[in-house]
Amino acid sequence: MTTAVLADPAGFRRALMRWYRASGRHALPWRLTRDPYAILVSEVMLQQTPVDRVLPYYGAWLQRWATLGSLAQASVGDVIRAWGGLGYNRRAANLQLAAAAIVSEGGRFPRELSSLMALPGVGPYTASAIACFAFEQKVPVADTNIARVLARVVHGAASQRDIPPAQIAATALALLPGRGVRDHNLALMDLGALVCTARKPGCGACPVLAACAWRAAGYPASTAPAIRTPRFEGTARFARGRIIDALRTSDALSVEEVVELLPTEHHLRTPHYLTALQHEGMVEQAADGRWRLPRAMGG
Ligand code: ADE
Repeated sequence: MTTAVLADPAGFRRALMRWYRASGRHALPWRLTRDPYAILVSEVMLQQTPVDRVLPYYGAWLQRWATLGSLAQASVGDVIRAWGGLGYNRRAANLQLAAAAIVSEGGRFPRELSSLMALPGVGPYTASAIACFAFEQKVPVADTNIARVLARVVHGAASQRDIPPAQIAATALALLPGRGVRDHNLALMDLGALVCTARKPGCGACPVLAACAWRAAGYPASTAPAIRTPRFEGTARFARGRIIDALRTSDALSVEEVVELLPTEHHLRTPHYLTALQHEGMVEQAADGRWRLPRAMGG
């Protein structure tokens, strides 16, 4: 594997940090805490949802379940209801399962990447974000914004999809400063979110334009194949989301009632959706066979 390197990594970091001090998103509430539980909640909410949509849900969630211990006691039904319209409801169930798992193992929030990744719903990105943002560990955090910045500045490509993920990971690690890793990662993230955006990047305002390999190469277009997005109404995610939405506001539904909520193309698969959701702990069957959100309190 070839390792791309910047000519002057220290100069790059200095320019990045100067920009970040003036223009970073310092007031985001999850950046004002080091509580690993609050940071877990924020990172799981931010996995597939933009910052502006997450903000009200994050505040409301921490009002209702201020601690890991209180979330561990909640029912999956209650957390799915509180998740409201954030989408990807499985994230809510996983948060409750993660809280219950930590409490049942003594209540000490894990710090090691491998133990963090053993939590439900915590993958490599979220584990490294918690390790870095809560515990200030010296680890790279490669979310999509950071990966895009590194793909451009260091590797000279338009998109992170043009570069093997292992190379981006190696670059992120090689660029870490000796100290101040948390701010360094947040600064890269903000540069990707505010300047080095996927579409229409603001290169005129970029603090590291002079060091940018993508600029030096003449801004080549991405050669990665276009991402095909299936028609949403045809996906299992659509059907599952609609089932959970209906169960949020009704006590319980028969399988026939669930079928009627869905477009015809999903009808044959409806029993499968229900058993898959049941397996994942997102729904349960009442004694009369009807389906509902889980009621048992965790612990
Ligand atoms: N600050 C810390 N983690 C973040 C994230 N995933 N998105 C936006 N801001 C963040």
